[in-house]
Amino acid sequence: MEFKDVILLLHPIVTVVVVFPLIGIVVNRALQTRQRRLQTATGGKSKIPPSTGQEHVQLGRWLAGGVVGVVLLAFANDIFGTIVDNKIWAQNPFRVLLVGIIFGVAITSLGLLYRAKTRLWRGIFATLTGMSLVVLGCQDGVYRKTDQWYISHYYYGVTAALLMIFSLAILREIYQDKTNRWRTVHIVLNSIALLIFIAQGITGTQALLEVPLAWQEPYIQKLYEQQCDKQPCTLQVAPAPQKPQ
Ligand code: HEM
Ligand code: HEM
Repeated sequence: MEFKDVILLLHPIVTVVVVFPLIGIVVNRALQTRQRRLQTATGGKSKIPPSTGQEHVQLGRWLAGGVVGVVLLAFANDIFGTIVDNKIWAQNPFRVLLVGIIFGVAITSLGLLYRAKTRLWRGIFATLTGMSLVVLGCQDGVYRKTDQWYISHYYYGVTAALLMIFSLAILREIYQDKTNRWRTVHIVLNSIALLIFIAQGITGTQALLEVPLAWQEPYIQKLYEQQCDKQPCTLQVAPAPQKPQ
């Protein structure tokens, strides 16, 4: 496997090994937190320990960071891969610098969102993180599948990341609001996020089948160019130049 292929695999590997197990635990603790709250709301007792709420939030904070992280990993692979392949650095170094700065803004504002206490700063850093993701998603090299947005790994992935950023931003409101309105908003939005995560498992696995390894790329391109799914075709691709021994 070439270096390029290893970088491509980082996103699926981190998602499968870190993010999806976290989703399992976070959802389990979410159900227990809700069950415990409903059981104790009417003065009753619950066998579920009071620490489940804390566990849900602590792991939820990791999950939110993990989801934004894997989206940034995929974008970095797509965008910098295109910059290297098309030698954009030589033609337009300013654009490359700008992309690097937006990656920096996304990571820094996410870090600051974790530390921000007042509503204003949480709003500012959440907006900055979200906007940076959206701007990065618009760059060349990101496979958006806009004509089939309803099954697009990209659109659902960015939506899930935005929902996680929003969860981080409203964390304090969930506790402070005595009417439970923010709690309800959180449950509704994150139930949607859960459905999106399941969809990401499906479209992501499909994406893995579609993305060729580096050595296969010229052949696969020819398959598309010659529309080999519709007609018989013969492939002829010049071998890659040999590296000096
Ligand atoms: C798939 C993701 C998630 C789902 C399905 C989910 C769902 C839930 C549910 C059902 C509750 C219990 C509400 C109740 O008491 O009735 C809850 C509580 C809460 N969630 Fe989440 N959540 C998710 C992710 C997150 C994330 C990422 C964060 C923070 C970054 C978070 C922060 C909180 C907080 C602060 C509470 C209140 C806990 C308490 O009362 O002790 N959740 N969530
Ligand atoms: C939390 C779940 C996930 C999120 C938020 C997510 C998000 C994204 C985003 C935003 C992209 C960039 C758009 C694109 O190039 O298509 C992407 C690409 C990709 N994803 Fe995911 N994804 C998730 C899960 C998965 C899973 C489970 C797999 C496979 C097992 C996977 C495999 C891929 C592949 C192969 C690519 C294209 C390669 C690349 O551009 O780096 N993803 N993902």
